[in-house]
Amino acid sequence: MCGIVGYIGNKKAKPILINGLLRLEYRGYDSAGIATIESNGIKNVKNKGRVAELENNSEINELEGTIGIGHTRWATHGKPSEINSHPHMDNKKTTAVVHNGIIENYIELREFLSKNGYEFLSETDTEVIPNLIHYYYEKTSKSGKLDFLKAIKETVNQLKGSFAIEVLNNDFKNEMFVLRKDSPMVIGKGIEENYISSDIPAILSFTKDFYLLNDFEFAVLGRDYIEFYDSNLEKFNKEIKNITWDMSSAEKGNYADFMLKEIFEQPKSIRETIGSRVVKNARIQIDELDISKEYLQNVDRIYIVACGTAMYAGMTAKKILEKYCRIQTEVDIASEFRYRNPLITDRTLCIYISQSGETADTIAALNLAKEHNAKTIAISNVIGSSIVREADYSLYTHAGPEIAVASTKAYTSQIVLLAILGIYFAEVLGVSYNELEELKEEILEVPTKIEEVLKKADQIKQFAKKIANEKDVFFIGRGIDYTVALEGALKLKEISYIHSEAYAAGELKHGPIALIENGITVIGVMTDNLLSSKTISNLQEVITRGAKTFIVTNQNLENVSFNEIINIPQISSYISPILSVVPLQLLAYYISKEKGLDVDKPRNLAKSVTVE
Ligand code: M6R
Repeated sequence: MCGIVGYIGNKKAKPILINGLLRLEYRGYDSAGIATIESNGIKNVKNKGRVAELENNSEINELEGTIGIGHTRWATHGKPSEINSHPHMDNKKTTAVVHNGIIENYIELREFLSKNGYEFLSETDTEVIPNLIHYYYEKTSKSGKLDFLKAIKETVNQLKGSFAIEVLNNDFKNEMFVLRKDSPMVIGKGIEENYISSDIPAILSFTKDFYLLNDFEFAVLGRDYIEFYDSNLEKFNKEIKNITWDMSSAEKGNYADFMLKEIFEQPKSIRETIGSRVVKNARIQIDELDISKEYLQNVDRIYIVACGTAMYAGMTAKKILEKYCRIQTEVDIASEFRYRNPLITDRTLCIYISQSGETADTIAALNLAKEHNAKTIAISNVIGSSIVREADYSLYTHAGPEIAVASTKAYTSQIVLLAILGIYFAEVLGVSYNELEELKEEILEVPTKIEEVLKKADQIKQFAKKIANEKDVFFIGRGIDYTVALEGALKLKEISYIHSEAYAAGELKHGPIALIENGITVIGVMTDNLLSSKTISNLQEVITRGAKTFIVTNQNLENVSFNEIINIPQISSYISPILSVVPLQLLAYYISKEKGLDVDKPRNLAKSVTVE
C-alpha cells in the first residue's frame, strides 16, 4: 500500500527522501513523488511508475530544499498516473500533502469545495485535503503555526476514513506538519534533523529513536525540535522509543532477495521470539500478560482472528488450546469476522495476529471485540503498531523487519508464539501434561531443526525447475498439515502466479479429484503420525490418475513411490508447520525465480493492507 517519508534538516532532502521511498518499495506501489520547499516556494515532482523513474525525472534535479515529503502511491481512487500521484497541492499551490489511507466522504467534500470555487485536477480522494486546509486557513488570521494547525484540525474533522498525512506550507518554510488516524506514521528523531515515515525500516538507517503517533495527535517537526499537540491543540510531551532492529535486518546483504534472506533467517527469528519465554523445567514466562486462572476458567470461547498467512498461523493454535485448556477455539478471517455478528461476550477472549499490526480488517475485528467488552490480545511484529495500541495485551514476535511481501519468518514466529501462549494458558489453568513439558523442549530445538531443513534448498531448487511452468498445483494435508498446505498454496500463488489450491486430503474425493489429470503436480504434507497413512492413500489416488507428487514429511515412506520427497526432522505435531512450511516457502521462491518474477514485490500485492 502507499508509503510516506519526510525529512527536515540541514542536508538536501531529495536523496534522503528517495532513499526512504526505495526502502518503502516493498509495500507495493504504482507511482511516486516528492515535494520540497525551495526558495521560491514548494516544488512538486511526481510520476507514474517506479522510484527509479522518479530519480531520472529531469525536474528532480531542481530540488535543493532541505525539507520535503515523499510518497509511493498504490492506486485506489483513479488510475496510476502522474496527475493522480502524490504529493497533491491546493489550487493556490500553497500547501502540499501526501496521504496514506482512504477518504470515504471525498465526493461530498469535493462538492463542498467546488461550490466554494475550488477545482480538481486528479481523480483522487486525497486532493480534497490540501484544498480544505487552504479553505480553513484562509478563514484564520494566518498569524502563526497555531492557525495553520487549526486549519489542519478543521480539515481532519471533516474527513471520514483513514489517513496519515504529511503537510508542507509556503508560510512555514522551516516546519513540517503531520497527523494520523487509523493509518501508521512514525517520527524519527535525529541530531538537528528529523524524519517521518509510514514504516520504521524506511528510516532505520538514519535513526533508531522513534515517536509513535496516536490517532488525532498532531506533530510539528522543525530541524531541532518536534512538538506534539493533542486533538484540542494542547501541547504535550511524548515518550521516545528506541527500536532495537539493526540496519542489516532491513537490507538484503548477500542474498538475492529479501524473501530468501528472510527464509534463511528463521532459525534466528524463532530464537528471538522464544527469547526467555521458554526455559527448560520452568513455567512459561510471558511478562506482557496478566491473566488469572479464574479469568481463563470463565472464558466462554477463544477467537483467533487474522488475515492471510497470519490467519493460517492462527489455525495451528486451535488444537493446543482445545486439547489442553479445554476452551472452544475458533479461527476466523478478519474480513468475515467483522461483518458476521460473531458471538462475542465479555467472557470471550479474542486473539488478533498481524505481522504489520496495521491490517485494516484485523483492526476493525479487534474494535468489534472491544465494543463487546471482550478481552483482546494482539500478536504483532511491529512495535507500537495499531493493533498493539488497541489491544488489552500485546505480544511481539521478534522476527525483525519482514520486507518481502510474501510472509515467511513472521508466520513461523507467530506459530511458535501461539504454542508458547497455549502452554502458558494451560499452566495458568493448572493443567499439567508430560506432553506439554516435552513440547517446551521441542520448542527450544526448533531453530536447530530449521537449519537442517534449510540444507535441502538445492534439492528443492531442482524440483522447482521441473514444475515452474505448471498452470495448476494442488496441496493436500490433514489436520495440522492441512493448515500448512493452505499456507504453501498461498505462498506459491502470491509470488509465482501459478494457480494453486489447498485441500484437506480427505476432501479430495468430494470434488477436487475431478481436476487431477496426467502430469499435474500434487504436493503432500505429512507430519502427523496418526493421519499420514490416510494422506498416503489420498496421494495414491492422485498418482493413479497421473499426478506428479512432491512430499514434505517426517514419516517413513519406504514403500511408496513419490517423485520427490523432502525429509524433515521429527517434531511435535503442535508445531510441525514451523518445519514443514520451509520447503514450501523455498519451492515458491525458486519457482518465482525460475520464472524471472519479482519475488519480493509480486504484482497487485502490498505488504501492509491498510484498507479493507
Ligand atoms: O500484516 P498482516 O500479518 O496483518 O498481513 C496479513 C496478510 O495480508 C498477509 O499475511 C498476506 O497474506 C501475506 N502477503 C502473505 O504472504
